[in-house]
Amino acid sequence: MSNPRIFVNPKSGSIRVTGTVDLVDADGNILETVENIKFCGCGQSKEKPLCDGSHKGLTKE
Ligand code: FES
Repeated sequence: MSNPRIFVNPKSGSIRVTGTVDLVDADGNILETVENIKFCGCGQSKEKPLCDGSHKGLTKE
């Protein structure tokens, strides 16, 4: 697995993960391995837990 990097946008609250990461359930079982994913931190996304860009109506990003 690569060395992923995480950027939390202080304006939108979005959380961008760059690199390869495993998405796991509460028991630690791997659900999916993904690259370069962005999570919603603003609570407005209709595709939670992923960011769908809805934060753009809230900020001037
Ligand atoms: S951070 Fe919530 S939609 Fe982008």
